[in-house]
Amino acid sequence: MKIGFFDSGIGGLTVLGHALKILPFADYIYYADIKHVPYGEKTKNEVRQYVQKAMDYMAEIKVDAVVIACNTATSVADMKLRRNYNFPIIGMEPAVKPAVAYCKEIGKKVLVLATSLTLREEKFNQLVHRLDATEMVDTLALGGLVKFAEQFEFDTEAVHQYLQKEFAPLVLSDYGAVVLGCTHFPLFNKVLQQSFTEDTVLFDGSVGAINHLCDILEQKGVAPSLDDKIKFVITNGNLPPNDVDYKKILQAYVHSI
Ligand code: DGL
Repeated sequence: MKIGFFDSGIGGLTVLGHALKILPFADYIYYADIKHVPYGEKTKNEVRQYVQKAMDYMAEIKVDAVVIACNTATSVADMKLRRNYNFPIIGMEPAVKPAVAYCKEIGKKVLVLATSLTLREEKFNQLVHRLDATEMVDTLALGGLVKFAEQFEFDTEAVHQYLQKEFAPLVLSDYGAVVLGCTHFPLFNKVLQQSFTEDTVLFDGSVGAINHLCDILEQKGVAPSLDDKIKFVITNGNLPPNDVDYKKILQAYVHSI
């Protein structure tokens, strides 16, 4: 089974990382559109075209499913696009829902970090509105982090200074939760956590997206197969070896760890 991942650059690796843990037996193709990164500073129409091009590529190489591992691309993608392809397309959603639920309990605010395009888009604003959380959710565009990540700069003096400047107008202790609404941002988990109090929780939508991918694959009756990945030689004298039980036990064990 072949699953396509797509992002403007390296950010989608933070989603692919969770996929490798949850679905270790699939084949993965990762498409990074670094020719056009950062998407957050492009127009909606430009990003729509990039998404279309990536999906055409995925169709050409015959994937079984695609994860748009990019919040910005998901925010602007015309989901009618799905009709043009015969594979499921899974998008990202900033993890505002669990963050709001958590902060309602502890009586604190939520800060959503994303690209400016994501934050401007209707999809994001409707999400906050649906949760009746407009009052308790603040937003901050951190497009600079995308640029740092693309230069493989994660924990440098320049990154610290950038964050210090961007966070200066905020009272950081007000936030019980910080939503990482751009897939590049978990690459800065350590630096971001240091900026807030120790008990501020960082929320990331990756696991949700991969769980959704699993549900969709299950509904379609496609499952990653161990057959392509591991060949068993079992000395029971039978040919071919009866490896069904071995595969079942291995699969169950992988899911349990
Ligand atoms: N990784 C991206 C996201 O989740 C895209 C950032 C960009 O290219 O500006 O939004």
